Amino acid sequence: MSFKEIVSHAKQYGFVFPSSEIYDGINAIYDYGQYGIYLKNNIKEYWWKSMIQINENIIGLDTSILMHPNIWKASGHVYKFKEIFLYNEETKYSYRLDLFIENYFQEKNIRNKEKNLKNNLIKYIYKKFKENDKEKILRLINKIKSKKNLRKWTKIYEYNLMFKIPLKEHEKKNFYLRPETAQGIFTNFLNVLNTSKMKIPFGIAQIGKVFRKEIIARQFLFRMREFEQMEMQFFIFPNQEKKWLEYWKNNRLKWHLSLGLGEKKYRFYEHEQLAHYAKKAYDIQFKFPFGFKELEGIHSRTNFDLKNHEKYSKKRFRVFDKEKNNFSIPYIIETSVGLDRIFLAVFSSSLKKETIKDTKKERIILKINPALSPIKAAIFPLIQDKRLISLAKEIYKKLKLDFILIYEEKDSIGKRYRRQDAIGTPICVTIDFKTLKDKCVTMRFRDKMLQKRVLIKDLKREIKKETSMKKLFQLLR
Ligand code: GAP
Repeated sequence: MSFKEIVSHAKQYGFVFPSSEIYDGINAIYDYGQYGIYLKNNIKEYWWKSMIQINENIIGLDTSILMHPNIWKASGHVYKFKEIFLYNEETKYSYRLDLFIENYFQEKNIRNKEKNLKNNLIKYIYKKFKENDKEKILRLINKIKSKKNLRKWTKIYEYNLMFKIPLKEHEKKNFYLRPETAQGIFTNFLNVLNTSKMKIPFGIAQIGKVFRKEIIARQFLFRMREFEQMEMQFFIFPNQEKKWLEYWKNNRLKWHLSLGLGEKKYRFYEHEQLAHYAKKAYDIQFKFPFGFKELEGIHSRTNFDLKNHEKYSKKRFRVFDKEKNNFSIPYIIETSVGLDRIFLAVFSSSLKKETIKDTKKERIILKINPALSPIKAAIFPLIQDKRLISLAKEIYKKLKLDFILIYEEKDSIGKRYRRQDAIGTPICVTIDFKTLKDKCVTMRFRDKMLQKRVLIKDLKREIKKETSMKKLFQLLR
């Protein structure tokens, strides 16, 4: 399906709404709807459990969004979390320089062989920017035909991506909305060491909202100004960096593959342009409808963060290394993924149009892994008959203690199936006149549209078997 159709389906079926829509919306900010929130929560649960339930040496935290402003000085974000932007007079839009260049090479179909060309161009532009030779950069940008031949690139400028907010009226000190969850983990490192049994190597995981002054990219959930990150910081001794970087690269790819979107959709990309805190960085890229783009980052942050927090806070972050018989500041391997990007990856690559064999009619189906499906089963009386409705409601009431369900009696059974296919419900359960006699219902499975009769008393077991997250965890072994 086209990207436009995917975005429109997300809205039409209650997955994602543009924020503040009745006031014409705000760019790059979205709300999750009644089904979107279930899908998002299921992805979160799977990530959270595969970090802290499956790994004995990883614990979780939930730290505040607002933190002491010195944290952002120590982390380098105040001075270095900046991006360079290009302004186009024709469109009146600004574009992030790094994305502009990436786009240019994609547009022109310049492949890996010419990777050096891209890196040299980036290096050259950044060098000229540092030298304040903006004229030269603009001349060059205007010369290369990019962004569908746009000309009139008139300004190049830099700004910090963090949102500043005063905590009190007339407050001079700047507070910030956090641009990554990681710093809440680093600043609680000593608390965790003192209150848990964790010993290096160990990890701390966190899921939470972050905020960045992104310039609009019009790629739906891909680049937002308010989004959710799922991050895990793994603390190690310095000499273990290579081993654990490799370990987490493979572990995270395996996690993504377990979602069943297909091996070919993923690839690694090693960064040449590193973030200010990273020594080595890999992206797991995903083939979104608009091409391969970053899904998750795996970074070696060395002891950059803890060393700086030691300096700014005057607290000691050193841990005794028995092997080396000395104290050292732990190194960190970070895994950082945008929850909204996983949502987009799952949603966009699971939405399909199919022609039904028998009727030749078209159906739209969200072929999502049942463990992530917003609704686990829909319960239908075959027709609006009092006895069928009463039994269907009785079954629904009992099963809703275990699963997120939908009960529906309106419209033909075919229409009800279509609605559930479109939101990815893996099972529909129909109560018919035969049920009144044999205590069996019809289970209809979304993907193959196969049906089978099962006893009412076995329904819970059958739904659990089909939709449990356990199957996903087993793939991680
Ligand atoms: N703590 C490291 C860090 O924040 P990052 O590469 O800037 O690293 C990590 O972000 C992940 O967060 C990305 O791989 C991506 O999945 C997600 N992400 C980053 N910017 C985003 C945005 N504007 N909208 C949605 N997700 C974003």
